[in-house]
Amino acid sequence: MTIERTLSIVKPDATRRNLTGQINARLEAAGLRILAQKRLRLTREQAETFYAVHAERSFFDDLCDFMISGPVVAQVLEGENAIVKNREIMGATNPANAKDGTIRKDFGETVEANSVHGSDSAETAAREIAFFFSDIEIVG
Ligand code: CMP
Repeated sequence: MTIERTLSIVKPDATRRNLTGQINARLEAAGLRILAQKRLRLTREQAETFYAVHAERSFFDDLCDFMISGPVVAQVLEGENAIVKNREIMGATNPANAKDGTIRKDFGETVEANSVHGSDSAETAAREIAFFFSDIEIVG
């Protein structure tokens, strides 16, 4: 049994539609524990730094525009195989390709406004968690 932590973000399209509670309920029902959570408005510099790995992609500027268009809710999730489990609960990046019952299928609007972000590996999770939270803010 591998207990992991992962970084989740409820994106501006979801906070705009007041979906944070419904998304959190799905995460908790699947056995993930929310160890830390904060609602904030990203600056452009923060969005560009967070998504720096995508800096050369054609969608980078639009992605950063979108991520600063409203509040986000950043979260640390913990649970068994939390990284993969959260990605299963989220569904495919493009809501059109996501399986029934996933967050992105049920709530996502477009590949950009896809309601949630989740870390894709242990290395990414460590970096992304540290981007938003200090150790003292993460309560196990
Ligand atoms: P996320 O998991 O937050 O990681 C990068 C984001 O880029 C992704 O979700 C999508 O919301 C966004 N994005 C926008 N356009 C594309 C695209 N064409 N392909 C992949 N991701 C995209």
